[in-house]
Amino acid sequence: MKAKKIKENIYWVGAIDWDVRNFHGYSTQRGTTYNAYLIIDEKITLIDTVKHSFTNEMLARISNIIDPSKIDYIVSNHVEMDHSGALPRMLELAPNATIITCPNGDKGLKAHYKKDWNFKIVKTNDKISLGNRSLEFVLTPMVHWPDNMVAYMPEEKILFSNDSFGQHYASSERFDDECPPDIIMEEAKKYYANIVLPYGKQVQKELEAVSALDIKIIAPSHGVIWRSNLDKIIPLYQIWSKNETSKKAVIVYDTMWHSTEIMANALMEVFEEKGFNTSIRNLQFNHISDIMSELIDAEYICVGSPTLNSTMMPSVAGFLTYMSGLAPKNRKAISFGSYGWGGKTMDEINNFFNKSGFEIISSEKIKYIPSEKELDEFKKKLSKSIS
Ligand code: FEO
Repeated sequence: MKAKKIKENIYWVGAIDWDVRNFHGYSTQRGTTYNAYLIIDEKITLIDTVKHSFTNEMLARISNIIDPSKIDYIVSNHVEMDHSGALPRMLELAPNATIITCPNGDKGLKAHYKKDWNFKIVKTNDKISLGNRSLEFVLTPMVHWPDNMVAYMPEEKILFSNDSFGQHYASSERFDDECPPDIIMEEAKKYYANIVLPYGKQVQKELEAVSALDIKIIAPSHGVIWRSNLDKIIPLYQIWSKNETSKKAVIVYDTMWHSTEIMANALMEVFEEKGFNTSIRNLQFNHISDIMSELIDAEYICVGSPTLNSTMMPSVAGFLTYMSGLAPKNRKAISFGSYGWGGKTMDEINNFFNKSGFEIISSEKIKYIPSEKELDEFKKKLSKSIS
């Protein structure tokens, strides 16, 4: 296992998780990396660690450059265990190392690991000298936990951004310009939609705080390092964090005997006639985390379910639960579906829409199988409602 040079005396020493396919409900079909960075200076510094089960891979990469016991500082930008999981082993090997973290990081690491390690607490604008280089800290709470912070190295113009700007993408290449650009952007969007989306306001604050910095490299804690596409990924973070939408509709549904599917297709026709970019997603074939990527720039979110045992289908309930947790904002919503005798499913879907603060444009149900006349009326009604 080799370390990968990022700059003179700065190395990527993380781990590549080629096999992970489920990241607490997020389908990671391209795997991921846990990025840790080693800085060789008067104070030898490790920025973040890796998931516990990848500790030996990280140690092998560090040992490729230096004896791990020589590490002086470990910067913990985030407590979540995909980045702190190797800390206990690191502190066994380098017991005198100081962990540099923010106040919430201090609390979180103590709550996780119950250890009396050496901690140095930093706040926004605090700086530490490593010798020839230095690190400046900006606290970024809730991007993605209360303990997140980022570290900036002014001498090399590198932002160690932790979760923000990450992608779940396993690759032996380390830089954005070494990988297919469309795939990197697709994974960055999916990562934002499934991890960062609830924290748009906090992302805005982070973007504002780092806007004064001269950044040439963004080194996140997952995926590739940005050095050639900063002019693309930073504006995208601006758009996503403001919940900006385009003339786009996403229709998400499940179906039992195709009646709700027929309604979904009719709805798609209405949107297409009105010039919307439309994406239609059957939950039997599409993962909820892929649907979230579609949703982050959609003006309309439409959800359809037949009634099953007096309620919506479990797949639809699962999607709505996942979506409402990720809290997309400023959306228009439509609920629809077929039913036989119980008719409360639309109310249940609308409850989720209300909880999310969506504007409900229409809510339509059709008994059993839609007739041509019913379908025609459904389309006419929706055509009037959709603007
Ligand atoms: Fe990759 Fe919030 O941890």
